[in-house]
Amino acid sequence: MCGIIAYRGKRSAGEVLLHGLRQLEYRGYDSWGIALKNGHELEVVRRTGKISASAPKLARHKGLQLGLGHTRWATHGGVTESNSHPHRDCSGSVVLAHNGIVENYQELKRGLQGHRFSSETDTEVIAHLVEKELAGGAPLREAFRSAFLKLEGRNAVVLLSGEELLVAKSGSPMVLGLGDGESFVASDVPAFLRYTDRAVFLADGEMAVIGDDVRLYDLQGTPKPLKEETIEWSPEQAEKGEYPHFMLKEMMEQPEALLRAGNLPKEDLAAAVAMVRKAKRVFAIGCGTAAQVANLSTYLFSCIAEMPSQFAIGSEFSHLKPAINQDTLVIAVSQSGETADLLEAVATAKERGAKVLAVLNVKGSSLMREAHHTLLVNAGPEKAVASTKATTAQMAVLLLLAHAVAGRADEGKRLIESASRAVREMLSRSEEMRALAQRLRDRQNIYIIGRGMNYPVAREGAIKIQEVSTLHAEGIAGGELKHYALALVEKGTPCIVLGSGKDILGNAMEIKSRGGDIIGLSPERSEVFDTWIQVPDLGPASAIVQLVPLQLLAYHLGIARGMDPDYCRNLAKSVTVK
Ligand code: AGP
Repeated sequence: MCGIIAYRGKRSAGEVLLHGLRQLEYRGYDSWGIALKNGHELEVVRRTGKISASAPKLARHKGLQLGLGHTRWATHGGVTESNSHPHRDCSGSVVLAHNGIVENYQELKRGLQGHRFSSETDTEVIAHLVEKELAGGAPLREAFRSAFLKLEGRNAVVLLSGEELLVAKSGSPMVLGLGDGESFVASDVPAFLRYTDRAVFLADGEMAVIGDDVRLYDLQGTPKPLKEETIEWSPEQAEKGEYPHFMLKEMMEQPEALLRAGNLPKEDLAAAVAMVRKAKRVFAIGCGTAAQVANLSTYLFSCIAEMPSQFAIGSEFSHLKPAINQDTLVIAVSQSGETADLLEAVATAKERGAKVLAVLNVKGSSLMREAHHTLLVNAGPEKAVASTKATTAQMAVLLLLAHAVAGRADEGKRLIESASRAVREMLSRSEEMRALAQRLRDRQNIYIIGRGMNYPVAREGAIKIQEVSTLHAEGIAGGELKHYALALVEKGTPCIVLGSGKDILGNAMEIKSRGGDIIGLSPERSEVFDTWIQVPDLGPASAIVQLVPLQLLAYHLGIARGMDPDYCRNLAKSVTVK
C-alpha cells in the first residue's frame, strides 16, 4: 500500500526521495508526490501514474537538504493530482504524507470549520489539525503529538515543518534509517538501504523528531531510547539485477532461500517446539498466500507429528474467538508482518491470553514485535506483489517445525536440502511452463485439483495465476469435484492435476470423461494426462517442489497476457489497511 520516504541531511534530497520512491513502487500505487524544502521555499510535485514516466527535474540547492515523498494507493478520493500526497495546511508551512486510513476523518473535518481543503482525502485533515493546534499556541512537537492522538485507525504519518521531520505511527509500518549526519524515514528498509544499514523500527504508539539529532518519544511525550538494528540485507538483494522482473528473480532465488530457511538457529526452533508442545490447541492463520501456507501446516503437523491443529483465514479468525484461550497457540504466517487483517487476529488472540508464534520474512515488522516468539524464514527482500520465495521458505520452516515437534529435526533439514535441489531442477525447466502458458493464455478458466498436502498447493497455484495473469483459476480438493465443480467442466476445460495417487487420478478421469484437458504435475506419467510435467516425489516436502511449476506458469501466463508480473492489478504488496 502507500509508501513513505523522508530525508534530512547533506545529499540531494530530490535524488534520495526519487530513489526511495522507486524502491517502494513494489508496494503498489497509482499516484505519487514529493515535497522539498529549498531554503524557505517548499517545492511540491504531485503526479498520477508511474514515477519513471513522469519524474520531473527536481531543483538542487545548497545547504540542509530536507524533504518527503509518497506513493499513494487510493482509498479516500479518486486518483488525481490533488488527492496525491504530500498534503498541506492552509498556510503551506506544514506538509505531510500518510499511510493508513483516518477512520474518524469526517468527524474531525467537521471540527475544522474555516480551513480550506483542497483534496477529498482523509490525510489532509491531519495537516489542518496540526495547523489548528499550532494556532492555539502549541509548539510543533506538541501540535503534532496532539493531532496524531486524535486519529482513529491504523496510521503512520511523517510531517515536515521548519527544519524538522516528525514521525508517528499507530499501525502502518515506519522505520528510521540512521546515517552519518543524515536521517531517513521510510515505510520499508529498501527505500534507504543504499545509504545506510542502521535502522530503528518504530513501534505503535511511538513518535520521532528528526532535527540535528534523532529523538524518540511515546505518544505521551516521554523520551525513549533508540533501539538500533543492523540490516543484514544487501542493497543488491533488493534490486532486479539481470532479471526482467522481480517475480522471476525471486522465484530463481528459491533454492538458496530454502537452504537458509532450513538453517534456523537451533535455539529459535527449540523455543517454537516448546510452545507447540505446551499448547492444548494450535491455530495456524494467514491471509491470501500465507493462508494457504497456514493451511498446509495443518497437514504437515498431522502427517509428520501426528498432531491435530486448525487453520483459519486471518480476517475470519475473530469469528472463532470463543475457541481461543490461554491454552491456545496461534501460528501467524506472513511475509511482510504488516498485514492489518493478520495483526488484528493476533491482537484478538493475545487479548484472550493465547500465545503467538510468527513465521515471518521481514525482521523488525509489527508482527515480530507482537508475537511472543518468531521464526524468521530468511528469504531476503521480496518485492513482487505475488509472493514466491517467502512462500516456499515459510513452507520449509513449518516442515522443519513439524519434524522438530516429532523429535526428528535432522530428517526435516535433510528433506529441505533435497527440496532445494529439486526446486533448482524445476526452475531450469521454465521453458516447459512458458510453452504451457502459451497454450493456455486465451482460456477463460483453469482448475487445479489436489488432495492432502496438494490441496493447499492447488489453492496457492490458483492464487498465483489469478493475481499475476488475471485469468480465472481455482484450486479445488479432488474429492469435492463431484459435489459441485464437475458442473463447470466442458470440452477443452484445462485442469491441472497435482500428484499421481489412485484417488486424484480417479478425479482426473472424471474430468477427462467430460472433455477436460488434463495437465498432470506428478512423479509418474498416467494415460489420463494429455500433458505431463514430471515433478519428483519428496514425501512431505513435495508440496514445496510442486508449487514451483505453478509459480512459473503464473509468471509466463502474466507475460503472455500482456501483464506486468511484478504489479498485480488492483493489488498491493503489503495490505496495511483492513
Ligand atoms: C501473495 O501473492 C499475495 N499478494 C497476498 O495474498 C499476500 O500473501 C497477503 O496479502 C498476505 O501478505 P503477508 O504474507 O505479507 O501477510
